[in-house]
Amino acid sequence: MLLAWRAMTSHDGPVRFGHLDCNSPIASWRFERQVEECAASSPRSIVDIGCGWGELLQRVAARVPGARAHGIDSDVELLERGRAGAAARGIADRVEFVEYRGEDWTEPADLVLSIGAPHAFGTSEDALRELFKLVEPGGRLLFGDGIWNRVPTEADLAAMWPETTVDEWRLLPDLVDVAVAVGFRPLRVEAIEQSEWDDFESQYLADKEVWLLANPGHPKAAEVREAADRHRDWWLRGHRGVLGFAYLTLGRPVD
Ligand SMILES: C[S@@+](CC[C@H](N)C(=O)[O-])C[C@H]1O[C@@H](n2cnc3c(N)ncnc32)[C@H](O)[C@@H]1O
Repeated sequence: MLLAWRAMTSHDGPVRFGHLDCNSPIASWRFERQVEECAASSPRSIVDIGCGWGELLQRVAARVPGARAHGIDSDVELLERGRAGAAARGIADRVEFVEYRGEDWTEPADLVLSIGAPHAFGTSEDALRELFKLVEPGGRLLFGDGIWNRVPTEADLAAMWPETTVDEWRLLPDLVDVAVAVGFRPLRVEAIEQSEWDDFESQYLADKEVWLLANPGHPKAAEVREAADRHRDWWLRGHRGVLGFAYLTLGRPVD
């Protein structure tokens, strides 16, 4: 799906997420294992809250014949990419991409996915509490969220995105404690390696950098260059090594 999407280049500026397979930091081997484990739980229904273009959702749904899936996001352009991917995989009849606010979705599912989108609900605690209600008893949640690798100093925070606070993320054990406190049991706890962050940030920036190489004199080039340089600073001088990312596979007990 990646190459076909990347080929769609815009004369007005860089494409969005054209070099990324999915919009969260993850190595392909880890992604494939998550797909396998999600499919092995044999869900009849799947929902992905904050799905983007739903690469994970599509790959899991493709492995579970008959499963009905909904991808929920507020970004219409990303949802269109999701629909194109589902059509190309021949699963568009049972995988629906819905423009909706994730926090307002109320239809439960056997398998709930929510990767990199806790802010739709508020804090990570808010997200885990609300997502618990969406998981059918006996079902699963695959939850992806930022974590601090160590508690950041004021100087660390000042070099990150504007208004980043220490309360924005927590240490991995504390995030798992929150999941347990809302009623889940942890089936797998994993945190990414630094190389997975570096790959993600490089591929995120590649849209801008490749476009800049081909369009150095474009009227928008200065603005795109400034945005790319600022983002690279937030990554390499800011969050690199301090901010991590965790994937929690969580089970909801049967009633
Ligand atoms: C970091 S991206 C992750 C996308 C996807 N889960 C993935 O891993 O590829 C976060 C996504 O959440 C979506 N989002 C943010 N707030 C939302 C909301 N209130 N309702 C639905 N989607 C939301 C964004 O549009 C974006 O696609």
